[in-house]
Amino acid sequence: MAERISMLLTEQQVDERIQELGDQISRDYEGKQVHLICVLKGGSLFLCELAKRITVPVSLDFMSVSSYGKSMTSSGVVRIVKDLDDPVKDKHVIVVEDIVDSGRTLSYLMEMLKKREPASLAVCTLLDKPERRVTDVKVDYTGFQIPDEFVVGYGLDYDQRYRNLPYIGVVHLDD
Ligand code: IMP
Ligand code: MG
Repeated sequence: MAERISMLLTEQQVDERIQELGDQISRDYEGKQVHLICVLKGGSLFLCELAKRITVPVSLDFMSVSSYGKSMTSSGVVRIVKDLDDPVKDKHVIVVEDIVDSGRTLSYLMEMLKKREPASLAVCTLLDKPERRVTDVKVDYTGFQIPDEFVVGYGLDYDQRYRNLPYIGVVHLDD
């Protein structure tokens, strides 16, 4: 089935909001070093743009967890495919996510990271679909709250495609 993509957030809107998030994080972590943890693959484009806009010292690490495949609904199963390279103990960790949907992936990650004793632990997500939340997970920095639609672009995929779109679009399967 062919799908159609409609514009939800333009490249300019996304870029401007990421600049604001970078400014806010730079202020909040003044005098500290932040350790950004990117949740692959979806968080990768957001991580790059965000990291460039943070003015305090930054280190990076990457983690990969199982995703939905071609389905558009959460399975609730979270599997670590690639763990972090470096310990997070005593670091000021910010988990960088593409989107918080049910919140299951993030809850699982947060529990796992807390046990590794970071100095602090925060979450920065580009997108949030609050209507879909099934877990009580705290998000510290949110780019945009969006309606309950399946979105692609800026790292987010549908069946591994559209990650490279420089804007956020909604997927329509209706034609
Ligand atoms: P959660 O565990 O339900 O919060 O979903 C986490 C992951 O599902 C996200 O990091 C995305 O990889 C994927 N996901 C959720 N909603 C969307 C969407 O609208 N478009 C693309 N991927 C999504
Ligand atoms: Mg993700």
